[in-house]
Amino acid sequence: MLQKLEKLISSVELKLSTVNDNKELEEVRIEFLGRKGQLPALTSEMRDLTSEERPAAGKALNQTKQKISSLFSEAEGKLSDLKGSDSTSGIDVTLPGRKQNLGSKHPITKIIDECSRVFRRMGFVVADGPEIETVYNNFDALNTPKDHPSRDELDTFYFDDGRLLRTQTSPVQIRIMENNEPPIRIVAPGRCFRRDTPDATHSMNFHQIEGLYIDKDVSLADLKSVLITFAHELFGPDVKIRLRPHFFPFTEPSVEYDFSCIMCKGKGCNVCKNSGWLEIAGAGMVDPEVLQNVGYDPEIWSGFAFGMGIERIAMIKYRVNDIRLLYENDIRFLKQF
Ligand code: PHE
Repeated sequence: MLQKLEKLISSVELKLSTVNDNKELEEVRIEFLGRKGQLPALTSEMRDLTSEERPAAGKALNQTKQKISSLFSEAEGKLSDLKGSDSTSGIDVTLPGRKQNLGSKHPITKIIDECSRVFRRMGFVVADGPEIETVYNNFDALNTPKDHPSRDELDTFYFDDGRLLRTQTSPVQIRIMENNEPPIRIVAPGRCFRRDTPDATHSMNFHQIEGLYIDKDVSLADLKSVLITFAHELFGPDVKIRLRPHFFPFTEPSVEYDFSCIMCKGKGCNVCKNSGWLEIAGAGMVDPEVLQNVGYDPEIWSGFAFGMGIERIAMIKYRVNDIRLLYENDIRFLKQF
């Protein structure tokens, strides 16, 4: 009997060492432990033993049962380890892949990039300036009178030290001219701030792109040709532009310029409020006063400047009807660009 039990253990060991998966393991389990298996068979042989032989055999039988059950749990453990390390059996290759969410550029960044690209092709260099400015650069050097309404605390964010959040990108003109000799040909995209109450067309922070062109004998015709080229590059060859007389402290003469409405092609619709025109921005010939402020001789140098709202262009181009959508960081909105 004892010999039989020992033999049983070693044949269980042998069988288990060849097992590769749960199904095979189950087969071995049935062979030895199942109702008609080898262990129950040996158990019933106990009946044939004499009463002297029985206690020792019973003890050996119990030990054998324990040994076999630990052999099985060992084999089971090995199988699940194997699963974890195996590159195919543990992975369901039929599951759909996990989606990687790729980011994309914000519509405002896209418009800035696109405008910069167009102007660079015309020979403009992209320049930069700080969002926190001096009153001098934002107003004084730009010939803005002390009582100009835009200087009011109700319109402009001031810091305690007297500096401010720039209300326009025009101070970049001053910085560039103070630090460079003419000729100059730059565009400066960037963020600006005004104390506006937010609504569908106003936001307390917004973006502009500034242009500045200084050389000898620059005329309004040069400005116009740059703006026409820009309009055509951005919205196609059918777009017309229109200059209207206006006033800015730092340009003389000053104009506002409009694009013919890209929705209705100038016929009149709700986007252009039936005028056929979309107001784009301000521009003009750099005021001699400004040239003097930066140490350029207005008798030798002349130039033009322009500034336009990036959000305005983004809203026209992407047909967005509320500026606030551009600032809410709503993925459902941003995904579309
Ligand atoms: N800075 C002006 C504005 O914010 C626009 C402008 C720029 C006008 C350059 C003339 C020249 O409205």
